Amino acid sequence: MKIAVLTSGGDSPAMNAAIRAITRVGIHRNCEVFGVFGGLQGILDEQFHELNSRSVSRILHRGGTILTTGRSEEFRTKEGQKKAAKILTDRGFDALIAIGGDGTMRALDALSNHWKGWLIGLPGTIDNDLYGTDYTIGFDTAVNNALEALDKIRDTAQSFQRVFLVEVMGRTAGFIAFHVGFATGASAILMPETQTTMEELAQKVIVAKDRAKSSVLVVVAEGDELGNAHRIAAELSERIGEKCRVSVLGYIQRGGNPTHFDRILATRLGAYAIECLLNGKHGGMVGEVDGNLILTPFEETWSKKKQIDQWMLGLLDELAG
Ligand code: F6P
Repeated sequence: MKIAVLTSGGDSPAMNAAIRAITRVGIHRNCEVFGVFGGLQGILDEQFHELNSRSVSRILHRGGTILTTGRSEEFRTKEGQKKAAKILTDRGFDALIAIGGDGTMRALDALSNHWKGWLIGLPGTIDNDLYGTDYTIGFDTAVNNALEALDKIRDTAQSFQRVFLVEVMGRTAGFIAFHVGFATGASAILMPETQTTMEELAQKVIVAKDRAKSSVLVVVAEGDELGNAHRIAAELSERIGEKCRVSVLGYIQRGGNPTHFDRILATRLGAYAIECLLNGKHGGMVGEVDGNLILTPFEETWSKKKQIDQWMLGLLDELAG
């Protein structure tokens, strides 16, 4: 079987571990594996390079993606998808494995309308916002990166008894904010999945101050409906009569060496993708749910929503003390 592999959209730590597993397990099981450089656009630009075992040496521990990534406007069009299908057919590919987020799963679904080859997706995004897997590749590392930063911010916040708003990534999803918020003892977590008014937020902060908390942390997902952390801090400062400080963590969350959890998840999903293809299973995203490896049809990965744990969310005020 001749397989192409690519990474697409925002990079996430341990994408490399997935590329390594796909390449090595694929080669061991008599497949030819080609890396596509530059994401989906790389198919259109015919950036194919055959990979061997040595091509994926010394990458298991590295963040980013050796295949490089991108977001392709051309691939969003029917013409682009047809062109990609023709190139893949002309080059004799039997299958394409793409590692990425919901945009990548949508692209694979669209490509399936034009290409007879077999398609498999791997969930690679720090946002953890794909249905069909408990965790996406890179989420754990991103949360740990943010935790490290927040623990440091807590030191200075406590020393000055300040209110801090810390913005984490998550344009449309609050999973990073949720995990980081609970793991750092935040007083409030603002995320797209929950509606919090400025009034409610101010009240939470005032209550925390009244309880003589030495510092107050508010974790804000970048996609929260109240706006970004700077905007929220400006209004909150007025309401509580105290200047709130802001830290935007940004891209630092997406880089760095992947955690052991992400390396193993990526390795399992990469190997499973090859097993699926060799067993004739395709047309979906591989994922791990309750410890089981599964294949979920592309469309479900974005149309169904993974839920935020409401029970735990209900404990936030009690835990904030
Ligand atoms: O990788 C996902 C993500 O981190 C989102 O949370 C964020 O909004 C987006 O990528 C930003 O990435 P870029 O600036 O590369 O488009």
